[in-house]
Amino acid sequence: MNSAPGTSPAPPHFALSGAPLDELELLVGGLLAPADGYALPGAAPDSWPCEFTLEVPDDLGKQALASSCAFLTDPDGTPLVRMDVTGKSDGDGGRCYLAGSVATIRAAEHPPARDIRLSSPLPRAGRSRAAVIAVFSAPPLPSELAQCLDTARELDAVPWLIALCGTQPHGAYSVMPLLEQLRAAQRVVADARVGLLVLPAPDGVCTNSGLLGHVLSNLGGDATLDFTTGAAGSSRPAGGTAASVQGGTVIFLTGLSGSGKSTLARALTERLQQDSPTAITLLDGDDVRRNLSPGLGFSTEDREANIRRLGWVATLVSRVGGTVVCAPIAPFESTRKEVRHMAESVGKFVLVHVCTPLEVCEARDRKGLYAKARRGELPGFTGIDSPYEVPTDADFSIDTSFMAIGEAVEKIAENLHTWTTPVARPHE
Ligand code: ADX
Repeated sequence: MNSAPGTSPAPPHFALSGAPLDELELLVGGLLAPADGYALPGAAPDSWPCEFTLEVPDDLGKQALASSCAFLTDPDGTPLVRMDVTGKSDGDGGRCYLAGSVATIRAAEHPPARDIRLSSPLPRAGRSRAAVIAVFSAPPLPSELAQCLDTARELDAVPWLIALCGTQPHGAYSVMPLLEQLRAAQRVVADARVGLLVLPAPDGVCTNSGLLGHVLSNLGGDATLDFTTGAAGSSRPAGGTAASVQGGTVIFLTGLSGSGKSTLARALTERLQQDSPTAITLLDGDDVRRNLSPGLGFSTEDREANIRRLGWVATLVSRVGGTVVCAPIAPFESTRKEVRHMAESVGKFVLVHVCTPLEVCEARDRKGLYAKARRGELPGFTGIDSPYEVPTDADFSIDTSFMAIGEAVEKIAENLHTWTTPVARPHE
């Protein structure tokens, strides 16, 4: 409509909240592109992922059309976008629809987690490093995190751990426990970033998987791993799985290099698997170093970080009811205690000290590392010039120079139940 300057009515303001506000944020941010505004019902271009409509009171709709403009505000009345109003059609009950594109005035501020909320394509980290997007609507499984790490490594990409939810009702932000889980994962996944993606859907539940796919492709990752359960923003409550599953068991073997930990751990895993309907997880020290801690060395700090990562993954497995056998050196009492603490917060923890003496380990020297360490070619080698603190809280000690692996495995398997009965813990 053409109006002479000074005669057009003032553009009206419309306050949005809930799902329409979340939708507007994605529209102006470009995550719903090529949609860039609202269409009249039945008139949206085919290329849009959905029909985005804006329904307003009829009298204000007329005013908007007359001025070719409207302002859309947050619930507090702060203008967020300017809309170029290009069309209007009748709705029901004194309401109408407006069509037109929108342009940002200022960024939205509504909660939750505003600092990490994603409403536009991902920023590129550093010199055009790629991005791997992993989307979760429930706490991440270790296997999912491992897949994310592998893909990120293959592409030399930044892993983005993204929490997905539907519209969060004011003051009831059900996605927060999930965000906490991802932040915990971030602490052990090298370079990871955490983001929140809110799709417009009342009641916090989004069932539109087509819309999710569209938004994910606009986010612009070089690879996308969708770990949401079925429908986007599944109705599985965020952070809610652990509560309904009984915690599992972490069996933590500690001892010098060459003490027989790995051999015992492998045999124990096989033995426990015979009696278990679900998979037993083996976290061997060398595997963990390769997959979770490739950048870490053997300084005190690096060893601590390595064991914390291992303990954290083990705890995640235990948290969903799994049994995990771990076999690192883990030379420090304080770090082992930290792992015990983490693991016991969700399930059971059994500490096995593989106490084969240094002389025996050194005589075995299958990898030739002790010889190297003695020659001074491997400084900071455990047992030679780096300490191994003997556990004071072991549930079981085994010297593989005296006890056969098979016998040790049977002893552990037989006594597991006794050791994992909380009241019987010797260290408490
Ligand atoms: S830990 O100290 O961080 O628990 P971890 O179990 O992961 O150690 O790795 C130990 C393995 O790394 C050993 O079996 C050995 O093959 C190798 N290794 C390389 N350098 C060292 C070192 N300085 N001290 C001990 N092990 C080392």
